[in-house]
Amino acid sequence: MRNINEDTITLAVIESFAKCEDARLRTIMTNLVQHLHAFAREVKLTEAEWFKAISFLTEVGHITDDKRQEFILLSDTLGLSMLVTAQNNSKPANCTEATVFGPFFLEGAPVYRNGEDISNGAHGAPCYVKGQVRGADGEVVPNAWLDVWQSDEDGFYDVQTHSGDGPTEHRARGRLQTDAEGNFHFRSILAEAYPIPHDGPVGRMLAATGRHPWRPAHLHFMLQAPGYETLITHVFRNGDQYLDSDVVFGVRSSLIADWIRHEPGIAPDGKVFDVPWYTLDYDFVLNPSEAIA
Ligand code: BEZ
Ligand code: FE
Repeated sequence: MRNINEDTITLAVIESFAKCEDARLRTIMTNLVQHLHAFAREVKLTEAEWFKAISFLTEVGHITDDKRQEFILLSDTLGLSMLVTAQNNSKPANCTEATVFGPFFLEGAPVYRNGEDISNGAHGAPCYVKGQVRGADGEVVPNAWLDVWQSDEDGFYDVQTHSGDGPTEHRARGRLQTDAEGNFHFRSILAEAYPIPHDGPVGRMLAATGRHPWRPAHLHFMLQAPGYETLITHVFRNGDQYLDSDVVFGVRSSLIADWIRHEPGIAPDGKVFDVPWYTLDYDFVLNPSEAIA
């Protein structure tokens, strides 16, 4: 293979994968090269632009560690994460839709009983959340596990505000199980809109392309129950100014709910607040997994 030119380079690279025994890997690499080369031809990529892209990806790598995943942020802000989520999570129309996972989930969050306060010292207006988990045929789903995680009133997740390498005090995140009727309820804090981390190369890309870094207020949920597909989703707060410009393209109309504001007074668990407090009522519908469908 010699004297490769701009017309023959694409086929030459594709043919170089001929001995790849993993058929899926060969398909992915072949298509990746086809699209990359088509992109470079279409925009007539200059050498300076190619080098700028290499420097950008190098910075994305350098800022990434076990607490900061800039590659996921890049995928999220380019819509790739939501595309992959959407094309892998088609469900019957009555099932709750999935959305992006995001980088702030933690394994091993504390387990709470229904009714307990998961905020664990995180700051924000008191908020009571309740709902029911059902299957696609309307059956209640008892003992389903719910993982919940959210930011505080300043827009930070606990993992963003912890200093040092000490043990993480899980704040505004927890695990709980539905009761025999599929119901769950817990206390937390009001979810607020927040900007994704934008002090790195992804933030500069957003600024350079005239985009803001904000996500509308939301609560993250992951639901797991035997016999059902795992559901990774959010519930978004109705009225948020960023619902139509989520920086990671994750909003679905079916996932928007009203957080009801209550004047200072007695909350559902008998606590008396001298500040406004909120309630959210949201039900989830799980898709049966293929094994039992
Ligand atoms: C989140 O909602 O936690 C999130 C999702 C994508 C990028 C950054 C944060
Ligand atoms: Fe989030």
